[in-house]
Amino acid sequence: MNHKILITGGAGFIGSHLTEQMLSEGWQVTVVDNLDPFYDVSIKEQNLHRCQQYGDNFKFLQLDVTDYVALSDQLKAPYDAIVHLAAKTGVRPSVTNPRVYSFVNTQGTQNMLELARELNIPQFIFTSSSSVYGLNTNFPWSENDQNLRPVSPYACSKLASELLGHSYSQLYGIRFLALRFFTVYGPRQRPDLAIHKFARKMINGEPIPVFGSLDSGRDYTFVKDIIQGLRQAISYDKSLFEVINLGNNKTISMKELIQTLEEVFETKAIINHLPAQAGDLLMTCADIEKAQRLLGYQPSLSFKKGLQLFRNSLLKKKLL
Ligand SMILES: NC(=O)c1ccc[n+]([C@@H]2O[C@H](COP(=O)([O-])OP(=O)(O)OC[C@H]3O[C@@H](n4cnc5c(N)ncnc54)[C@H](O)[C@@H]3O)[C@@H](O)[C@H]2O)c1
Repeated sequence: MNHKILITGGAGFIGSHLTEQMLSEGWQVTVVDNLDPFYDVSIKEQNLHRCQQYGDNFKFLQLDVTDYVALSDQLKAPYDAIVHLAAKTGVRPSVTNPRVYSFVNTQGTQNMLELARELNIPQFIFTSSSSVYGLNTNFPWSENDQNLRPVSPYACSKLASELLGHSYSQLYGIRFLALRFFTVYGPRQRPDLAIHKFARKMINGEPIPVFGSLDSGRDYTFVKDIIQGLRQAISYDKSLFEVINLGNNKTISMKELIQTLEEVFETKAIINHLPAQAGDLLMTCADIEKAQRLLGYQPSLSFKKGLQLFRNSLLKKKLL
């Protein structure tokens, strides 16, 4: 019998890569996504179209994870695992729209956990975020460090969801892994994220908005590496609850990001310096020892190589 998996947010950037990965391995995949208009919905439709080529093993349900009645009504299969990626994404918009972020992200997780309980789904993978570390300055950030100081409603919603998962793992024996992603990039990256936004503007000769210092930095993670970590988490069968960083263990400064984009896209950036934004962090960096130990996780690409692959994906879609 084929393995079955339920992926929420599967029409999005990371979710569509995971969906294709599981389909290519012969799994039956059900995607739940409400096609949220946070960015151009046609991008999500294209992502789904790629998955439809796998035929009957792929099923798409346009559902909202905050609507428990509809979820419970339409989802009956005995899934082997849930990967819950559906969320309102982005730190900055959560500062201007906190109630929606809090509601969709925590209520959505609560609903998916309830569904896991109702359908006896044994494994729940939750996609958390590096933003939960917040103002912690003890780099690289380790999962053992309890000094979590989030500074945005988005980050708080992710941390609250991790805690909900802990409760369900203890109450009902559902294995819950919270994977804290560190800024993910690569083909199909969300258009609101810096790399995608900067590349587009640089190609069009427009200034790029740089909020805060050129010395601020991010631990960027190539999407294929994230998928490798997610894939291992789906098969993980040891402890009942874990929080695991999926990053690259290397901080790239804003200055270095812009220089590498200039090299890869062969164009010069015009920088529009702006004040730091509420909710932004100065720097992120992941300790990935736990991911290596528990999941055999090993990020494989240099930053420049990852950006070249991102550029090639834009060329392929004739977006350059
Ligand atoms: N991209 C990153 O750098 C990054 C970093 C840390 C964590 N994450 C997390 O990874 C997950 C995937 O992120 P992504 O970058 O692929 O974002 P994305 O926006 O491309 O994907 C999220 C998907 O969730 C769907 N969605 C939103 N609200 C929903 C709802 N109420 N019901 C059903 N579906 C809904 C959207 O339509 C979208 O397709 C998110 O949970 C995000 O918070 C991403």
